[in-house]
Amino acid sequence: MRSSETVFDLAAAIGMVPTVFSGTPAGKDINKPTDVSKKGFGMSNQAIIDQLNEILKHEWTGVAQYSQASFIVEGVWREVYASKFLDDAKESFGHAQLVGDKIASLGGVPLATRNEIRQSRELTEVLQFSMEFESKAVEMYSKAIDLAGENRALVIFLEDILKEEQEGVDEYAKLLRNTGSGSESANPARQTG
Ligand SMILES: [Fe+2]
Repeated sequence: MRSSETVFDLAAAIGMVPTVFSGTPAGKDINKPTDVSKKGFGMSNQAIIDQLNEILKHEWTGVAQYSQASFIVEGVWREVYASKFLDDAKESFGHAQLVGDKIASLGGVPLATRNEIRQSRELTEVLQFSMEFESKAVEMYSKAIDLAGENRALVIFLEDILKEEQEGVDEYAKLLRNTGSGSESANPARQTG
């Protein structure tokens, strides 16, 4: 029957096999997302998914690290930095949402794990950790952009986030300059213990 052939061809074209007459197709793992994701993206698709998952782990780390910084910051600077760090945690969460959704869209499985966080009760040290965190993010998104290659929409998606990560670097660089990083006497945070 001609209509059946049409259905079969369409299913084959998008990486599925027809299940009209039977249950699970033999030899086909329908839970394996990369079967579909490889269509249209070629060999580099897994590489970009892997890199996006590394980024996702980094963003989840940011959610925890900045939240923790917000919780424990003490002294008069708490008035300023508790909300600043919480905002950064929210930014990381927003990026995690975007990247997790994108990984799923590309046919990957978003990771729900994170790396170790860095924490300190000394504000300048926290600012230094934050600066390094944002710099690492810039590096990771830049690498993802390289892997995205000719996929313009994905490049733009990543560039939008990269811009915010670079703003984070710029902001922490200025904050560290202002607190005299590396000089104990110029660091008001050290008084908070
Ligand atoms: Fe981020």
